[in-house]
Amino acid sequence: MSKSADLRINDQSYSLDIITGTEQEQAIDVSNLRKESKFITFDDGYGNTGSCESSVTYIDGDSGILRYRGYDITELAEKSNFLETCHLLLYGELPTADELGLLEQRISKFANLPDEVLSTINALPSSAHPMAVLSCGLQALGGAFPELATNDRKKDIENFDDAAALIISATRSITASRYRHQHGKPIIPSDSSKGYCDNFLSMMFSSETGQSGVPEQVSNALDLIFLLHADHEQNCSTSTCRMIASGGANPFASVAGATSALWGPLHGGANMAVIRMLNEIHESGDDGSRFVESAKLGKSRLMGFGHRVYRNYDPRAKILKSACDDALEALGVSSPILEIARKLEEVALQDPYFIQRKLYPNVDFYSGIILQALGFPTDTFTVLFAIGRTPGWLAHWREIALTGKKIHRPRQIYQGSNLRSYTPLSER
Ligand code: CMC
Repeated sequence: MSKSADLRINDQSYSLDIITGTEQEQAIDVSNLRKESKFITFDDGYGNTGSCESSVTYIDGDSGILRYRGYDITELAEKSNFLETCHLLLYGELPTADELGLLEQRISKFANLPDEVLSTINALPSSAHPMAVLSCGLQALGGAFPELATNDRKKDIENFDDAAALIISATRSITASRYRHQHGKPIIPSDSSKGYCDNFLSMMFSSETGQSGVPEQVSNALDLIFLLHADHEQNCSTSTCRMIASGGANPFASVAGATSALWGPLHGGANMAVIRMLNEIHESGDDGSRFVESAKLGKSRLMGFGHRVYRNYDPRAKILKSACDDALEALGVSSPILEIARKLEEVALQDPYFIQRKLYPNVDFYSGIILQALGFPTDTFTVLFAIGRTPGWLAHWREIALTGKKIHRPRQIYQGSNLRSYTPLSER
């Protein structure tokens, strides 16, 4: 028997269907409500609104569960790697050896950027943030491969395998090329004999380290960070990607837009903000306790804490917390700010303010400390989040392209002026 909910407005009853997800989450379907009643629903910030049905990622925020295509994040973190996970997200299944080989081949094929894309990103002001560079670079890339970025949905779906591999490959090359250019260093071409992360690290740093390769623990730690960031259902940037895709835009434009949405400090920019916060606390001589008090008074925000969906420990933060210890030990690096992070966590988790609001460390709390230990400058942290999140955005682009029927177009409650007459300039 299909379930329904009854809504009563001004003595009129409306029967609304109930949708049940595969994990038994339930939603009231209001898609016909306006047509039938002239009412719309209102949900500032969409915290209670399901914008779509999706088969990519499942989160149970109360229990701290995250699954990609049904696989628990902890198991993937332990047994899989970023490229396998890319395939899983993009196509719904873990790859066979042949499928993985094909994806690797495609990614290698596209690893060196066309000259016109290089000159576009290098022409941006030297003060441009790496996220601005990535977003522009992706649009330029779509321009350089017009056959993959047609805005003709049928053609863009046919060419999706190449477009997705090109974008996944290029996020890395754009970041590395721009970093080298900005520091007056020659570009290091891609080396297809290396794995995805090894190759990226080599494109960024190899002549600096004077080594042809990086320690395995370094590329493994980066691979883990990418894997843990690879998707997170309908967050701000992914919803942006889906919104752009719903209008029929190609994957390059959709991912470029998602990159901009990720940039802000409440979303992907939090990993940079965490490091800034920890440095400030360290420099002020505080062990973290004073900062927690000021966060409780609303004078500051404990960056890397809290989440719209998780009302429990973010499972990614749990994995990164132990990876952080391992990476620092393997690299032989000590980090004073790691001590502060631990203290902040300890104090906050015992404090009624954080307990009542169910605020726990999120993915960004420890990721920045690892990235810093790996040698990445702070202003590249958010772009590293973007590189990790790219397969997720692309999986959602593909889902919309294959199943989406409607352009996304929310409504609003207008609260502005009522009709008024134009006053000529001379009378104002
Ligand atoms: N520090 C101190 N208080 C906080 C924090 C925090 N980090 N986060 C939430 N609160 C308080 C907030 O002031 C509010 O208190 P009150 O009820 O007294 O007004 C209450 O908790 C609910 O907060 P909210 O802002 O309504 O929650 P939200 O779901 O809208 O925001 C969030 C979620 C992630 C934007 C927010 O927790 C935050 O700003 N955290 C810090 C930034 C951060 O780490 N962002 C990365 C998120 S994980 C990566 C990603 O997926 O993008």
